[in-house]
Amino acid sequence: MEENKIILTGVKPTGQPHLGNYFGVIEPALRRSENNLNSFFFIADYHALNNGLSADEIKRLTHVVAATWIAAGLDSSKHHLYRQSDIPEIFELETILNATVPKGWMNKAHAYKAAMDQNIEAKRDIDHDVNMGLYTYPILMASDILIFNANQVPVGKDQIQHVEIARDIAGRFNAKYHSSTFTLPEHIIEKNILEVPGLDGRKMSKSYNNVVPLFASDDDWNNAVKKIVTDSNQEHTIETFKDTTFYKIFSIISGETETSKITDQIVNKSIGWKEAKDELLHQLISRFSEKSKMYFELLNDTNKIDEILKTGAEKIRPIAMETLNNVKATVGVL
Ligand code: TRP
Repeated sequence: MEENKIILTGVKPTGQPHLGNYFGVIEPALRRSENNLNSFFFIADYHALNNGLSADEIKRLTHVVAATWIAAGLDSSKHHLYRQSDIPEIFELETILNATVPKGWMNKAHAYKAAMDQNIEAKRDIDHDVNMGLYTYPILMASDILIFNANQVPVGKDQIQHVEIARDIAGRFNAKYHSSTFTLPEHIIEKNILEVPGLDGRKMSKSYNNVVPLFASDDDWNNAVKKIVTDSNQEHTIETFKDTTFYKIFSIISGETETSKITDQIVNKSIGWKEAKDELLHQLISRFSEKSKMYFELLNDTNKIDEILKTGAEKIRPIAMETLNNVKATVGVL
């Protein structure tokens, strides 16, 4: 039955994807959609406007995110890959939804609350640096989801609340108009996702400056791998080695055979960290260099990416139009 579900997820074009994004989001989402022809992947460029990036950055990162998904294995002829801004019905729907969403729901949304808490702590005006885009972020996200009547929304833990709000918005609209206009979406948190630690052992995150880039040149990968924090004087048992950041990164990227081999080598001291890191680089290259090549080829041909995104949007826009017309009729503006 899973095959008939509509799966939808969006990514903001706000940064260069790293290994943490790949194993935590990209790869599990692609696996889930493997046998599902109703998968929608989009680039949430209107959401990204709230992050204060320049026009050039938004444009560049939109291409980066699209190329990443394609190089990671998304088949744009099988699945729907599009840019949020190419489906204007989403924004029209948002305006209609605005009329049914209680302001109090937005006061409780995490992103806004976090900004508010920071301002309180810094003894600033509570809404300092808060724009309306941040405030109404969950309503736009609800529009993204409801316009295609998605059933399942794979997201990271930080986005659960937003999907819950989308569900509440759908339910409230249906109740208000005694209709079954919207499907109630549910969030999906993939089980057994692999959490790659960052170079310093904390969560891998651009804001900690501890990432291994997903698609990169061998030199860039090498520079990242060299920065993995290791303890040079330590003798390792299997247990203590398994506890290292190096091991955690290595074992996620590599197969079991390579992982047990390097474990033996470290434990019996036939190699040191330098050789171990060379081997990790080798593993990165063998797992990701082909995909990297495709990624860079695509980025060199942004017209092609634009074409793919445009075609993706054209294919599904009729669905969005149908939902919007239905909603308009329901509220009395059609
Ligand atoms: N808010 C999501 C994030 O920051 C991105 C996003 C926008 C999204 N619209 C969505 C995710 C709809 C899932 C469904 O990661």
